[in-house]
Amino acid sequence: MEAHPWLVALEQSGLGVAMRQSLLLYPAVEILHILGFVLLVGSIVGFDLRLLGLAARLPIEPFARHAVPLAMLGFCIAAPMGFLLFATEATSIAANTAFRFKLVCIAIGLLNVAWFHLGPWRGLLQRGETSLAAKLGAAVSLLAWIGAIIGGRLIAYL
Ligand code: HEM
Repeated sequence: MEAHPWLVALEQSGLGVAMRQSLLLYPAVEILHILGFVLLVGSIVGFDLRLLGLAARLPIEPFARHAVPLAMLGFCIAAPMGFLLFATEATSIAANTAFRFKLVCIAIGLLNVAWFHLGPWRGLLQRGETSLAAKLGAAVSLLAWIGAIIGGRLIAYL
């Protein structure tokens, strides 16, 4: 199947060419991509496990005030760096099953974050207890973000 014209345009753009031709740019971007998702997923996993009952003596609200900004910073590094990696071979990576699986996991992870903060998190702040919905949100979050990591790593193998 022919690649979408915008994928061809991105791959042949100055950005795509620079990412392919520069000796240091690709590894530098990939290192930042890894640092970004380590910060993102590391913070999220720590917070989700607390919501699921681990380290029960650790107060959830101050933990969230620490973990959430770190996760946001991680996302703001990982996503643009990922786009640069994608620009390098956009036509083939867009057709890669692992990459598509990863994007689905990221979309589920982000939708779950929005739902969690609009719903169960407000309940938790008001009532001080972790509802079943909050625990469900934490479980979906763990599966989605770990799925994104699995998909990301498998890109190179498929
Ligand atoms: C925000 C959540 C993200 C996570 C958790 C994530 C995770 C990963 C992981 C684990 C790898 C493998 C790294 C390695 O072992 O070398 C990877 C590679 C990659 N990621 Fe991401 N990523 C994210 C976002 C993105 C986005 C938004 C894009 C593109 C639009 C992207 C594009 C890529 C590409 C193209 C590679 C392949 C690099 C290679 O194999 O050489 N990533 N990602």
